[in-house]
Amino acid sequence: MAFATRHFVRATSSSAAATAAAKKLIVKHVTVVGGGLMGAGIAQVAAASGHTVVLVDQSDEILKKSTKGIEESLKRVAKKKFVDKPEAGAEFVEKTLKNLTTSTDAVAVVHSTDLVIEAIVENLEVKNELFKRLDKFAPERTIFASNTSSLQITQLANSTTRQDRFGGLHFFNPVPMMKLVEVIKTPMTSQKTFESLVDFSKAVGKSPVSCKDTPGFIVNRLLVPYMIEAVRLFERGDASKEDIDVAMKLGAGYPMGPFELLDYVGLDTSKYIIDGWHSLEPNNPLFAPSPLLNKLVEEKKLGKKTGEGFYKY
Ligand code: NAI
Repeated sequence: MAFATRHFVRATSSSAAATAAAKKLIVKHVTVVGGGLMGAGIAQVAAASGHTVVLVDQSDEILKKSTKGIEESLKRVAKKKFVDKPEAGAEFVEKTLKNLTTSTDAVAVVHSTDLVIEAIVENLEVKNELFKRLDKFAPERTIFASNTSSLQITQLANSTTRQDRFGGLHFFNPVPMMKLVEVIKTPMTSQKTFESLVDFSKAVGKSPVSCKDTPGFIVNRLLVPYMIEAVRLFERGDASKEDIDVAMKLGAGYPMGPFELLDYVGLDTSKYIIDGWHSLEPNNPLFAPSPLLNKLVEEKKLGKKTGEGFYKY
């Protein structure tokens, strides 16, 4: 792993900004900030598709864990992709890892990046502080994108001076497996930026869909109220959670029932999302908080990760 250290202060001339806005950028160099569940996955698929990637997190220990996870995941991908050609598989893993470096200093590495993808903790202030800082050091051409699930892209973009070169890139967990990316265009995102983000999503092997900057974008906007409605159905005593899960699997063809999915996603995460939307639109009945969900979160029954949620594991 190489550690980049050079600092770069961007040129601020308006002509450079105008050129950056006019041209569609082909993304080759990517900085992924946040090496957790999502960031590591995004770094993996970007590096595997030939981009040079710097993965940034707060400590070398975290980054070591992230790269170890990426290596293991790549080996699994290689095993599937190159069933009869283990040598080609090993070469794929080696080549991908060569495209990947790590750093604990985002400011020091953004000087040569085309695209910054932020996948850090889901907290507006922390994300805004990061974007504001990076905005000062990244070149004019650099596009900023957030992988946030529940925050407004517009609010994040407003912490920078590059609102036209700012969008959402919402990947799904686990990133190497899930084909979808939601590309979010705010009213300020330029068409060129949007196209660059769509092209990048395709280049990493995903199927992009486009959505405005609206709570939950497409997937979570439909999925979260559906899961909470299942909780309400159960709370009213209309059906058992087991029957609701069976019904949605066998009747709607879903791979998991809503309670299984809630336990998988994490009850705290689901509560956080619905509470955030409720504060934005308090009169929207789809976003009304669920007393049962709140109770389980209070009892630290958060789902699979704590051994108990709606079910015991
Ligand atoms: P995570 O907790 O697994 O990883 C976050 C990482 O960011 C941690 O390694 C942490 O050390 C690092 N970090 C925190 N502050 C930082 C900073 N200032 N600079 C550098 N690194 C920092 O979280 P996860 O699940 O990967 O989520 C990340 C983002 O992706 C969140 O915005 C979340 O809403 C979004 N997301 C999550 C999905 C999921 O299923 N977990 C799905 C789609 C989006």
